[in-house]
Amino acid sequence: MTRRLYKGDPLTPEEREELEDDLIAFCDRELDLLGDIRDLDVLYAGGSSPLWVEGLSQRIGEGGSVTAIDVDAERVDETQASLGKAEFVAPVHLLAGDVFGMPFASATFDLVYSSGLFHELDVKERTAEDALAALHSAARPGGRVATGDFVDSEDAVQLEDERLEAELRREAYASEPYGIGPPQRLVDLHEELLTDVRWQVFPPQRIRHLGKLVLAEDEPTEVFSLPPATARRLRESREAMRGRILSEGYTRPATVYVEGLVQGA
Ligand SMILES: C[S@@+](CC[C@H](N)C(=O)[O-])C[C@H]1O[C@@H](n2cnc3c(N)ncnc32)[C@H](O)[C@@H]1O
Repeated sequence: MTRRLYKGDPLTPEEREELEDDLIAFCDRELDLLGDIRDLDVLYAGGSSPLWVEGLSQRIGEGGSVTAIDVDAERVDETQASLGKAEFVAPVHLLAGDVFGMPFASATFDLVYSSGLFHELDVKERTAEDALAALHSAARPGGRVATGDFVDSEDAVQLEDERLEAELRREAYASEPYGIGPPQRLVDLHEELLTDVRWQVFPPQRIRHLGKLVLAEDEPTEVFSLPPATARRLRESREAMRGRILSEGYTRPATVYVEGLVQGA
């Protein structure tokens, strides 16, 4: 196998195409769980990747809109740049902002949706309950709040990778990621505030060549500024995780989808 990089990409063009096909398939599987979302005004909370934003826009059609809010202003700018002046079926508004301080009047959206937000949430000063309350208050009475995220019900190499990332954030930024837990934890959050809650766990979906990309990543620069014993521990864990990728591939976690209705109409 050649080790040559293709214009700085560790993947060959064919591998890149397969990876992208699998990412699209994963995104489609998750967005299809929302059912019929035609003509809705949707808030996509905690995410801004073009794939997801476009997928939502296509499903919504001309009669609704997508507003995406992501605390990572750089990601939002990148998406804005990559989408350029693309014409969307449903208009798209991208915003840099925090779900804990949403810049919208309450009861604005028909559907408030997040996918992968919760495990990355920093719950050091606010809680996951506060986050769900913020999503809930952005939805109109009779509207819907829906969440997709990874769960730890099956072992997966990606869970180890996410645990390492969370540990790095704790050590380097003193933040406290909510992390990936059992499905019931997210279900309970929804049941506290919403009615008619329904949920389902879905099996892991493979994404070809993701392991190769992870193996090509440099060590996070934050590690260099940590106390030596902490840096050593993180390096050892990272090496163990890389060993697992080499022996078993980059296995992926299962996901949960949970949704409920906002009371009133
Ligand atoms: C795993 S990624 C979500 C991937 C998603 N499917 C997408 O379209 O980008 C989690 C996202 O949540 C964002 N995020 C984390 N905490 C947030 C917060 N408090 N408010 C808004 N966005 C947040 C991160 O910046 C990141 O873009």
